[in-house]
Amino acid sequence: MPGVLPAGEPVPTDGALPASARPAVGDRGFGVYVHVPFCASRCGYCDFNTYTADELGGGVGREGYADTVLAELALAARVLGEAPPPRVDTVFVGGGTPTLLPADDLARILDAIDRTWGLAGDAEVTTEANPESVTPASLKELRAAGYTRISLGMQSAAPGVLAVLDRRHSAGRATAAALEARDAGFDHVNLDLIYGTPGERTEDFAASLDQVVAAGVDHVSAYALIVEDGTRLAARMRRGELAYPDDDVAADRYLAAEAALDAAGFSWYEVSNWARTPAARCRHNLLYWTGGDWWGLGPGAHSHVGGVRWWNVKHPTAYAGRLAAGESPGLAREVLTRDEAHMEDVMLRLRLATGLPLAVLDDAGRAAAARAVAEGLLAAPAHAAGRAVLTLRGRLLADAVVRDLLS
Ligand SMILES: C[S@@+](CC[C@H](N)C(=O)[O-])C[C@H]1O[C@@H](n2cnc3c(N)ncnc32)[C@H](O)[C@@H]1O
Ligand code: SF4
Repeated sequence: MPGVLPAGEPVPTDGALPASARPAVGDRGFGVYVHVPFCASRCGYCDFNTYTADELGGGVGREGYADTVLAELALAARVLGEAPPPRVDTVFVGGGTPTLLPADDLARILDAIDRTWGLAGDAEVTTEANPESVTPASLKELRAAGYTRISLGMQSAAPGVLAVLDRRHSAGRATAAALEARDAGFDHVNLDLIYGTPGERTEDFAASLDQVVAAGVDHVSAYALIVEDGTRLAARMRRGELAYPDDDVAADRYLAAEAALDAAGFSWYEVSNWARTPAARCRHNLLYWTGGDWWGLGPGAHSHVGGVRWWNVKHPTAYAGRLAAGESPGLAREVLTRDEAHMEDVMLRLRLATGLPLAVLDDAGRAAAARAVAEGLLAAPAHAAGRAVLTLRGRLLADAVVRDLLS
């Protein structure tokens, strides 16, 4: 969850949804996101809404955080009162570093979600985790509490790259944690990689891919390094201490990821995500990408329920203050217009391996799709069958293809 919040109209203090909200909440799936805004230290590239103990000063900290989240959950139950979702299909606890909270707190939050709306029998329940913040014992506790999936930030296997990224863990700790998670009974384990870090060599990224494959995980996310304004990494690049990422290098790394992961039996299902089997795909993220409903709990968390999107106040102290006063922590909201909803739908679904039906495009969009087939950016067989699906080259240029289909 990026740190910068958009503008919008104010959310009423009781959090009530506007009358225009679609009543059938969860008809396309319902998820709960829980944001945990704490990290032991800040990685130089990261602009997520997260705070170290020093940054929080005397403000709200980890202690009592689970209870604050439960207060927002109680408010959510009141807001959805008469028309609750039929069940919770997915839960995703992200951060920040969720595993800085005691496993007991993560268990209590999950239990409260289940008691509020009921978890589906086959619910996917993920927590993000930093490799150095889990142990075999904490992983077993999380598994016993009902978590079904762990997503670990590995980023790289190369010590020099981890140092540039300011990671706290040693090379090798992430894959060790992945093995511990599997031993603890997690069938679904993800490792996140970042490629294109200054100083990363071709062989460094190849080693990262080898180690991910050897760890036996069933899901991999690989992201090109984004230089976010206001981060320490951006400042170092501006001062000339580090080189800016190179687009050609990023494209080579992406192709290397696809080749290595495909050879190891993974398939891409979203431009930055690969899974060993359909069951290993992250259902929570798929819900985001396919127009499902979700309630985001926590400071800065975004929600999307019944066609309304809103986001919470960003700082943990302001968040806790609102809830302590019995008020919604919602800062602002927007009801997407048909055009905005359409643009978002095209943007998100085109990034999926399933693509999107050509029928959702207007005439200009369909003409652009035909040109994209001729340029090798969209797959010809899928196009002949009425769908827009990116080719490998198209995945490298996904943003440009989306722009063309929408212009
Ligand atoms: C918010 S982090 C949470 C995971 C966990 N805190 C960790 O770092 O291990 C989720 C993932 O986003 C990715 N990420 C965060 N900032 C990024 C950036 N500036 N560029 C590329 N990927 C980024 C990293 O791969 C990270 O593992
Ligand atoms: S540990 Fe994760 S969330 Fe925290 S600063 Fe680093 S990348 Fe961001």
